[in-house]
Amino acid sequence: MADFMKVARTSDIPPGSGKTFEVGDKPIAVFNCDGTFYAIDDTCPHQGGPLGEGEVVGTVVTCPWHEWSYDVRSGVNTDDPTCKVSAYPVKVEGGDVLVAV
Ligand code: FES
Repeated sequence: MADFMKVARTSDIPPGSGKTFEVGDKPIAVFNCDGTFYAIDDTCPHQGGPLGEGEVVGTVVTCPWHEWSYDVRSGVNTDDPTCKVSAYPVKVEGGDVLVAV
């Protein structure tokens, strides 16, 4: 079981947005969906687009490169359930966002 690592303050990621952080040696996209935080791999399986820079609506992020969409809760592509990125546990403690990768 991976340890939780602090990646940001909650205030660093406004509601309805995401941001990319290096966790260990991995780029991880962290999203704030109306106050609940989620983390998935940042790299889109299509051609490597940065999911942390995508538009977030509800719990769905759309890749900024070619508009593939993923549910940030599971990492599953909304059009093709066989396509997914890894999703990681997130917790919030004292205003810090921690991710276990
Ligand atoms: S790289 Fe993400 S949709 Fe193409």
